[in-house]
Amino acid sequence: MTQKESWGSRLGFVLAVAGSAIGLANIWRFPYMVGKYGGGAFVAFYVLCLILIGFPVFLSEILIGRTAQESPGKAFEKLGRKKAWGWAGDFTILTGFIVSAFYSTIAGWILGYLVEAALGNIHQFSSITEPAVYYDSLIKHPVWSIGFHAFFLALSLGVLLLGVRNGIERFNKILMPSLIIMLVALVCYGLTLPGSVDGIAYLLRPNWSSLTPTAMLAALGHSFFTLSLGQGTMVTYGSYLPRKDPLLKSCVPVVIMDTLVALLATFAIFTIVFGVGMEPDSGPGLIFHTLPWVFSQIPGGQYVAIIFFLLVLLAALTSEISALEPTIAYLVEEKGFTRKSAVAIGGTAAFIVGIPCALAYNIFSDVTFNGMNILDGFDFVATGLMIPIGGFLAVVLVGWAWGAKNALAELELGTSRLFHRFPFLKAYFSLCFKYTAPILMVLVFLQALGIFS
Ligand code: PHE
Repeated sequence: MTQKESWGSRLGFVLAVAGSAIGLANIWRFPYMVGKYGGGAFVAFYVLCLILIGFPVFLSEILIGRTAQESPGKAFEKLGRKKAWGWAGDFTILTGFIVSAFYSTIAGWILGYLVEAALGNIHQFSSITEPAVYYDSLIKHPVWSIGFHAFFLALSLGVLLLGVRNGIERFNKILMPSLIIMLVALVCYGLTLPGSVDGIAYLLRPNWSSLTPTAMLAALGHSFFTLSLGQGTMVTYGSYLPRKDPLLKSCVPVVIMDTLVALLATFAIFTIVFGVGMEPDSGPGLIFHTLPWVFSQIPGGQYVAIIFFLLVLLAALTSEISALEPTIAYLVEEKGFTRKSAVAIGGTAAFIVGIPCALAYNIFSDVTFNGMNILDGFDFVATGLMIPIGGFLAVVLVGWAWGAKNALAELELGTSRLFHRFPFLKAYFSLCFKYTAPILMVLVFLQALGIFS
């Protein structure tokens, strides 16, 4: 039996968790959601969701891992003291695996766009409709889609192969600061464009009428996805921590960083988009259609495009790694494989499962369920159903099966001074673990089932 892996330092852990959290959701999804759902109003509501639900669930998952010192299946079983809880933990590993498969397809497009940007192909459009046609021509190509899916996955597996300390931790320590520097550079660039004030105004002027129930529940669901909840990731990352790590002090900065990056990305994109007189309301096409047109309009467009897609790629890479790590940990810790074999098995499986997603816009474009193609179907099942279920199970485990009292005693380890200074923290977390978070999550779930739309 190999020895359980662990983080080399607290900073390494914080950056790895931040690397997991900060991903496509921050740089791609959040900005277009803000554009679509009412600017500042959406942002304000989203922050509320983070405080009431996202953060407590995030803390629950890391606490489960840190306490049990096991991968999700065993960790859930140990704390829930029933076999069925073990299955619940295994279910979250499966969710992470499925996310890793379809996430790699989308991240593969980003890698493909980075190559296109470097080749000088996406900053020279002469009409506003051209980028969309170009985008279609790329993703309609099965070899392009599968090739970049494989390429991106290979990069992630390379890091995973090196292990927790030498791979995940070391890469995040380099990639996260680089990402922040590039993002700040983009924000500064955006601010130099005339008309960028309109972008800022859009963000600051809340449009309450766009904050519909659908938008609210989308904000709630987003807080889950962006913090990598419900898919075994945080339980696994938590299990590599020493039991006395001051959890609150490690976790609060991550949530703040995750939110800041989403806001900075929105800021950068909005100032640049408004800077050329456009609106950021094109939905998911924002970075693939709107931005390439914008890059064609601005000075130094090619370099801005390269920096932008490199930034998104790094963010996606550190997230992909974290989606696959629970599967690897499961194979190593529960099935006795070496890390090398586990990475080979997990990686091959993710590649195979990702293939139908990569073919969703070309060979399999006729295959639809309920109007969704295969990729959207995977996204819906994982993000809309499995993640909320996984997050719900984690918080119910903490609040009820293991018990809020036991959980709080464990949470206090390493942070007892903070709890003495702010006695209300205990009551707050107890309330969140037992009531607020699970109840509000049921709402997200009902939304995913379309009850509200
Ligand atoms: N948190 C990631 C993001 O914001 C999502 C994610 C994490 C996806 C882990 C997969 C695995 O993009």
